[in-house]
Amino acid sequence: MSDKSFSLINHKSGEQLGLETSDAVLGPSVVDITKLYSEQGVFTYDPGFGATACCSSTITYIDGEQGVLMYRGYPIEQLAEKSSYTEVCYLLMYGELPSKQELETFDQSIRNHTMLNESFLRFFNGFDHDAHPMAMVSGIVACMSAFYHDTTDIQESAHRDVFAHRIIAKIPTIAAAAYKHSLKQPFVYPQNQLGYCSNLLHMFFSVPTESYEVDPIAAEALDLLFILHADHEQNCSTSTVRLAGSSGTNPYSAISAGISALWGPAHGGANEAVINMLEEVGDPKNISKYVAKAKDREDPFRLMGFGHRVYKNHDPRATIIREMCHRVLEKLGQEKDTPLFELALELEQIALKDSYFIEKNLYPNVDFYSGIIYQALGVPKSMFTVMFAIARTVGWVAQWREMVRDPESRIGRPRQRYIGPGQRDYLPIADR
Ligand code: ACO
Repeated sequence: MSDKSFSLINHKSGEQLGLETSDAVLGPSVVDITKLYSEQGVFTYDPGFGATACCSSTITYIDGEQGVLMYRGYPIEQLAEKSSYTEVCYLLMYGELPSKQELETFDQSIRNHTMLNESFLRFFNGFDHDAHPMAMVSGIVACMSAFYHDTTDIQESAHRDVFAHRIIAKIPTIAAAAYKHSLKQPFVYPQNQLGYCSNLLHMFFSVPTESYEVDPIAAEALDLLFILHADHEQNCSTSTVRLAGSSGTNPYSAISAGISALWGPAHGGANEAVINMLEEVGDPKNISKYVAKAKDREDPFRLMGFGHRVYKNHDPRATIIREMCHRVLEKLGQEKDTPLFELALELEQIALKDSYFIEKNLYPNVDFYSGIIYQALGVPKSMFTVMFAIARTVGWVAQWREMVRDPESRIGRPRQRYIGPGQRDYLPIADR
């Protein structure tokens, strides 16, 4: 407990209520309000949970004012430069960087779980070819809860481990199958000699009739994007996974709920929305018109890829991705032929100098630039949020594992302020 004291005064009774605070290793302390209702008969009110911590966590730390992001204490900039996505998966799940042997064993286990039960492939045929891939992926992941009855005891650490390895290994296969279904092409089976991102590119872009070489630059770019998207503490989709998982539900169902939450344009769907927006803007001469629309309170239009609930200075992931855009486009020989990137750079510059965006602390977020890289890699817009879901799966899994093992965790059950009608008597239909 912290030595900071915190008290509330009940203005009706005049009573002063001392509340305990707990310090965090980094970031703000928390005020413990768990007894507020039982002792004072009031709830706290915090729509959108802007000031509410729902758990204690050891996984990811964000300082939104300073633009800091760390996984298990390691700054994202160092992980982006020196690590790999598979190593980051291990770090997020188990808390420490792996030894060489630990990483090899983990990597091998992920490679061994990439194949899907053949029944899953038949599920895809139930979808029209124009179904959004996020709908297919969340549906198929939910279906996984109907399989694997050998590992559903979530209190068993070995069961949790197998679940974690399975979902991390199979989510690229599911995503690629959704993509192939939308193209009406045959599914491509995983090749376990390939690394995580190379395998994904192979399943996306190869066809059975031709040989296919994975472009190492594309695999490297994807690996970096996945590192940046791997976890982001208690964001909307992660909180959804924790909330669904808190009932003790099958963990595949909890992950499926997270995928559904990620889909929205205010969250992971922003990467697709950014490209739609840039295409709509079309030409640098139209930027001022769209900036004016974004500032108009009467107009629902927002600059997609701008703003963040937590980052009020800059999103460190956006800085890394902007740099990466230059490198990837240059290496792929596309830098001179990417009008959308040019447009994005110009839009960013104009918005960053505008008093509206400055006063509201609105900066480009991770998704302002990620779609441009996905596009350069040949990934279609409808698959952008699926790519995000693949990368974030490990974050959801790590957070779910932490929640299941946390002795303080209880079923998530928010309260409400009721503002509907008071009690009234039922009227028979003839009298209404
Ligand atoms: N364009 C224009 N105005 C904006 C934008 C934007 N992109 N974002 C926020 N604002 C304005 C709001 O209208 C609001 O103005 P007001 O104070 O006059 O009412 C103010 O800035 C604060 O915004 P809120 O919506 O209250 O902030 P909140 O924390 O609830 O929302 C969010 C954050 C959802 C990310 C928001 O900034 C947004 O919709 N951005 C565009 C979508 C996007 O890029 N989402 C991806 C987020 S990153 C991720 O999930 C991976």
